[in-house]
Amino acid sequence: MQAAISIQHLVKSYNGFKAVDDISFDVSAGDFVGFLGPNGAGKTTTINAITGLNNFQSGSAKIFGMDVVKDYRQTRPLIGLCPQEFNFDPFLSIEGLLIYQAGYFGVVKKIAADRTRALLQRFGLFEKRKQDFRKLSGGMKRRLLLCRALIHDPQILILDEPTAGADIELKYDIWKYLTELNTQGKTIFLTTHNMEEAERLSKTIIIIHKGKILHHSDKESLVQNKTLESKYLELTREGAPP
Ligand SMILES: Nc1ncnc2c1ncn2[C@@H]1O[C@H](COP(=O)(O)OP(=O)(O)OP(=O)(O)O)[C@@H](O)[C@H]1O
Ligand SMILES: [Mg+2]
Repeated sequence: MQAAISIQHLVKSYNGFKAVDDISFDVSAGDFVGFLGPNGAGKTTTINAITGLNNFQSGSAKIFGMDVVKDYRQTRPLIGLCPQEFNFDPFLSIEGLLIYQAGYFGVVKKIAADRTRALLQRFGLFEKRKQDFRKLSGGMKRRLLLCRALIHDPQILILDEPTAGADIELKYDIWKYLTELNTQGKTIFLTTHNMEEAERLSKTIIIIHKGKILHHSDKESLVQNKTLESKYLELTREGAPP
């Protein structure tokens, strides 16, 4: 079966510094991938290349066989992106943001209005729909990012730390919702620093470190330590109390 996301020899440099250094991987349709790595590993840079927010120097990124650069008109509507940073248009209401985004992907008005209502109700934002997003709390803004990623009903969801700053209740709610979406057949590509989140949700784990893929396997193999050698690391700080 054709991969939902296929990255081949992708390289992205900033002034000669390789933030992503010749990475390759495929994501099967219907998979739930945890894309993990420390700060600065290259996760967001990879996501930005897939979603067309970044250019890149060499290699390719394909969505269901279509090139994200050459065939961007076909690939962009297939992806719903929940970015790491809030990047809402400050001149639109919360409701307006979703309707506008739907229009960007050619969703007809009536469907856009119905989906907007349903998503805002699902995420407890309906009462605030006429407000400016700046009046939302951090957790509410996270929910709005998720609503915006879903408004055009994409096949693939790319989520860059979607639960960062979420309280426990919201985090569990997002986990439940993402599991439902994946069960319905959506392919999900998620970055997180929350290991519980990665373990609970992912079927596949890809680890990136200093721009290189360090590990790629199904979650069970990783958890049972079949593919990684056990490592024990002890850190002591000079002058630390005994
Ligand atoms: N616009 C930019 N210009 C220069 N360097 C950049 C730019 N964006 C990212 N980088 C660098 O590329 C590297 C990878 O950054 P990236 O944002 O992809 O990391 P990340 O894995 O998403 O980290 P985090 O977990 O902190 O979000 C870092 O060293 C970062 O400083
Ligand atoms: Mg990042």
